[in-house]
Amino acid sequence: MFGKIKALKQDKNVVIIDFEQQQGQIEIITENIINVFSGFETKEHQSRAIEEVKSVNTEYVVIKKEDRIEIKTTALYIEIFDEFKVDFYDINHNLICADYRNERKVSTQIDQAAIELAAKEGHFIDARTLSKKIQVVKVMDGDECFYGLGDKTGFLNKRGYEYEMWNSDLPEPQVDSFKALYKSIPFFITLKKNHVFGIFYDNTYRTYFDMGKESDEYYYFGADDGNLDYYFIAGDKMPEIIEGYTYLTGRTPLPQLWTLGYHQSRWSYETKEEVKDIAKHFRELDIPCDVIHLDIDYMEDYKVFTWSNERFKDADKVIEELNQDGFKIVTIIDPGVKIEKGYTIYDEGIKNGYYAKDVEGNVYENAVWPGLSVYPDFSDEKVRNWWGDNQKLLLQKGVRGVWNDMNEPASFNGPLPDDVQFLDEGKGANHKKIHNVYGHLMAKATYEGLKRHDKRRPFVITRACYSGTQKYSTGWTGDNHSIWAHLQMAIPQLCNLGMSGLTFIGTDVGGFGSDCTAELLNRWVQVGCFSPLFRNHCCKPNRRQEPWAFNQETLDINRKYIKLHYTLLPYLYDLFWESQSNGLPIMRPLVLHYQNDRNVKEINDQFLFGETILVAPVVVQGQRARSIYLPEGNWIDYWTKEVVTGGKYILREAPLDVCPIYLKAGSIIPNYPELHYVGEKEVVELTLDVYEGVSEYHHYQDNGEDFEYEYGEYNEYLFSIDDKGIFTVQLASNGYSKIYQSFKVLYKGKIIVVPFNGEKVEVQL
Ligand code: GLC
Repeated sequence: MFGKIKALKQDKNVVIIDFEQQQGQIEIITENIINVFSGFETKEHQSRAIEEVKSVNTEYVVIKKEDRIEIKTTALYIEIFDEFKVDFYDINHNLICADYRNERKVSTQIDQAAIELAAKEGHFIDARTLSKKIQVVKVMDGDECFYGLGDKTGFLNKRGYEYEMWNSDLPEPQVDSFKALYKSIPFFITLKKNHVFGIFYDNTYRTYFDMGKESDEYYYFGADDGNLDYYFIAGDKMPEIIEGYTYLTGRTPLPQLWTLGYHQSRWSYETKEEVKDIAKHFRELDIPCDVIHLDIDYMEDYKVFTWSNERFKDADKVIEELNQDGFKIVTIIDPGVKIEKGYTIYDEGIKNGYYAKDVEGNVYENAVWPGLSVYPDFSDEKVRNWWGDNQKLLLQKGVRGVWNDMNEPASFNGPLPDDVQFLDEGKGANHKKIHNVYGHLMAKATYEGLKRHDKRRPFVITRACYSGTQKYSTGWTGDNHSIWAHLQMAIPQLCNLGMSGLTFIGTDVGGFGSDCTAELLNRWVQVGCFSPLFRNHCCKPNRRQEPWAFNQETLDINRKYIKLHYTLLPYLYDLFWESQSNGLPIMRPLVLHYQNDRNVKEINDQFLFGETILVAPVVVQGQRARSIYLPEGNWIDYWTKEVVTGGKYILREAPLDVCPIYLKAGSIIPNYPELHYVGEKEVVELTLDVYEGVSEYHHYQDNGEDFEYEYGEYNEYLFSIDDKGIFTVQLASNGYSKIYQSFKVLYKGKIIVVPFNGEKVEVQL
């Protein structure tokens, strides 16, 4: 496809190589991040994920050898051969990742008769072809584990499976054989014995990832359209790879504190009376809750940016009333705009040419909840601005967050044809190119609109994503089911999403489709407690699953874990603060921090919440004890305070109300006092739960709401405990006036209250 190397030139950070048939480029983004590019479609990158120039001035040398070009940065060797084969070596010249030199071993013998026979009973087989125009095939050494790739189903390690990036709204129970779901995050991490690295294939068309399914000798990624445009991200440790990937595609900005509280949803709370009743239950039953979601029935005939006059008359007054009681309202907004003359949103969009068109230039129509609808063309800035400005219609009613759904985009009358036309910022593009970024661009429009019209940090949830959506939105995993398999899947799915840059993520707690059981909800709330987006949501015809929907025991267990989540809010907020600067997820697989421990590479039913809290939930019906793997070091059982030495499996009893939790020795965990919602009362005393040993912890505090922290209005506390048990607290930054008045230190069974006035304090514990 490329032919032999013919010539070479350099332009700043870019090495341009002329091959016989095609030009290729290697760009040194940083010493550890290398872009491999060849413009099959356009000469330039056309990224929707990387929105700023990321190349920094990096020292590197280029040497032309007889059969290759060698590039050396301070961290990597890159060798480029004929046919644009690229190999990466570490600085000691150990091979990290090589291109495969042979032909792929795909079987072209398709047994058509067998396929047709199986199809009679509904078994559909996807015939594999060689037709991927752009393909990068990498040598597999044999011990690779693959992580990331967004929301793919199945287990943590993606080795041995193939996937596609094509945002898909698939409501049937999602199983391991699904190749695509709602999100397209073409990024994965490869972990092998001596190396770890990431690859981000920045191509918005339908892309393919075979992680060693076709052959044990190689894995590959490819596409039928677009450019060859991938980033190789090197580092010593897995967190550095995520840091590199989010350096390119962006990080989750600090959210408002209340968004980290508990969210209650259902399709739908249909009247304002019902919403008030839900709110009343939370307060009366002493269950903390910050957010109630309004699904599509709050609208008039599912027309976005309208309110049902019958069911939500005077919505602003009700929302204000709820707000007084600490509840924030989040409303759903789908992209589909109902075709109805006289409906302002529809008319405005038609007048201004804001909707996607068919090849003949007519506005393209398909059906979603409102019936026949049109699709705003978010690939154009003026449409995004218009859509963004419409958010003020929600803000004016008192709405505090916007939930973007159905933005794959979903369509009830068959998929959108490939040739539906989009503006693509004036360049023009078809549906094949825009599909995977449609939801991403909708979320961007929503975020930017909210930011223009409100001084508070925008809160957006989206179902469809592309790489980089984390800058604008939180995400949830879409329509799971109330089945145990989906509770089990939630852990690897959320961990892989987190490693794919989506820090703020959650599943529908209790499951969306199918009927939940009391036991399932009890176990799911124990996982939800440790996921950054903690929302119980459920489908219209299915059994109710609010915390009180079953029995007293279920209510008590829900209360216990929702309260625990609120206790841990300052720790969670600290993790978000940290993630702004390194992109690390909140829910982490154990392998992220213990990559050299072979026991953790494929742990699917345990995870870390931050670095120091290990959660081992029960995800099997009827199970009342489970084995837990604790990595090296000492771990403290959260419930019994027993100290357990790690590096081994243990057996732990786990009655229905117990989710096993372990704290790493040396942890300091900040806790809030009991709150029913964020802002119920000012937190003047912070509790510090200290777990053995010498430790240090940075804690972040601000007003939890606006962007003043960007101008220094925040406090950063540094807590430490030395080997003599001396506790020190000092302010590392002091820009926010409401400093804590005291700290309640829980240490080795003692409670020590340490008064604080902003000056450094040292106390013997
Ligand atoms: C989709 C969403 C779901 C929502 C429903 C109705 O199925 O994924 O969360 O409740 O639409 O709006």
